[in-house]
Amino acid sequence: MDKLTIFLVVFLVFLNASAQNNKKLALTPPMGWNSWNMFEGDINEKIVKEIADAFVKTGMKDAGYVYIIIDDVWQGGRDNRNRIVPDPKKFPSGIKLLADYVHDKGLKFGIYSNAAYYTCGGFTASYGFEKEDAETFAKWGVDYLKYDYCNAPKDQKTAIKRYLRMSSALKKSGREIVFAICEWGRREPWIWGKTVGGNLWRTTWDSRDIWETKKYTAGRAGIMNILDKQIGLEKYSGPGGWNDPDMLMVGLYGKGKSSSLKYKKGCSDVEYKSHFSLWCMLAAPLIVNTDVRDMNEATKNILLNREMISIDQDPLGKQATRIVDEDGINIFLKPLQNGEWAICFLNRSNGIKSIDFNWESLTLNKKESGYSDSYKSLKNYTLRDVWKHKNIGNTKSNLKIKIISHDVLVLRLIRQK
Ligand code: GLA
Repeated sequence: MDKLTIFLVVFLVFLNASAQNNKKLALTPPMGWNSWNMFEGDINEKIVKEIADAFVKTGMKDAGYVYIIIDDVWQGGRDNRNRIVPDPKKFPSGIKLLADYVHDKGLKFGIYSNAAYYTCGGFTASYGFEKEDAETFAKWGVDYLKYDYCNAPKDQKTAIKRYLRMSSALKKSGREIVFAICEWGRREPWIWGKTVGGNLWRTTWDSRDIWETKKYTAGRAGIMNILDKQIGLEKYSGPGGWNDPDMLMVGLYGKGKSSSLKYKKGCSDVEYKSHFSLWCMLAAPLIVNTDVRDMNEATKNILLNREMISIDQDPLGKQATRIVDEDGINIFLKPLQNGEWAICFLNRSNGIKSIDFNWESLTLNKKESGYSDSYKSLKNYTLRDVWKHKNIGNTKSNLKIKIISHDVLVLRLIRQK
């Protein structure tokens, strides 16, 4: 065998091994809660326990939200054996007992670290201690690790190496741990994320609790800015490895410690509903940030809409494609299992829009999207409005609708018998 062949064989064996290790994890986009945007460093074991209780009480757990994830600023350095330890003031009982509490509720437990010496918040991180930390996380009962990339070299090669170091350590730990890559899309993680053992990878800077900002920059990425960054990434997302357009701002109303922009009140309920719908269309991880102990009815109605969630969680695991971007209207199309479809009409303009949509006008570049279903059969679908929870017609005639500013219409196309 020549050198190139040997290299290819080794590479394929490696790819296959990492794919097999990931076989059972994150077959649908992970759903849960994360502490960061609401609480930042003010997280502690009391809050985490109460969030787990609230998951059960409010129906979040039954709707499919399962991971309770502690983000940055939980760390208290290393002990004299170099084992990472939590801040004893915030987590006096230790992480193991906290994870047990979460598990006892039928939920899963997640934690955060970083591929350098210090995290984004300036706390102890895992570089050089991947083996020790993976063992510690496994011992504690961690089911999900968000792995950040602050204070690390900027180049792609180093990032790949550092993520691989931690995912290999996690695999060796013997516990199945979802691995969430967080380097903000700077080094095209959609290309290499899965091969280094990632189950999801952030595609953008942190989301702020705002509909749209003038310019997408670190610290000023709005929901629409982030949405636009997902276009073209469809083919990289699927069961076991998801594009992650960052967490859900739904219900924060400008109260989040990290997500809030100065003098801004967050979004309206209509905007939160659209944000949630679009993330479901994208097959995005659904990681809630609001304080679930204290949700109003509007927030509950959005986060607990099971018809919408089932579009996100569809086993086919396809990210929607934007098929129309015209005059303030975006249309997204997502194939679902059993030949069904989800379609989302979004009004990005500041006024009301009337739409007269002809189902026969639907075209898609099949080669790019990889979709094989034929549109001929689109004539025979029932239209199910997933927010009104009722059927509103079929695809035999044009769809005539009005959508208010920043709102969506999401339909499930159900095959007629
Ligand atoms: C980065 C991540 C955020 C959060 C913070 C914590 O900014 O992108 O999601 O984890 O670090 O410091």
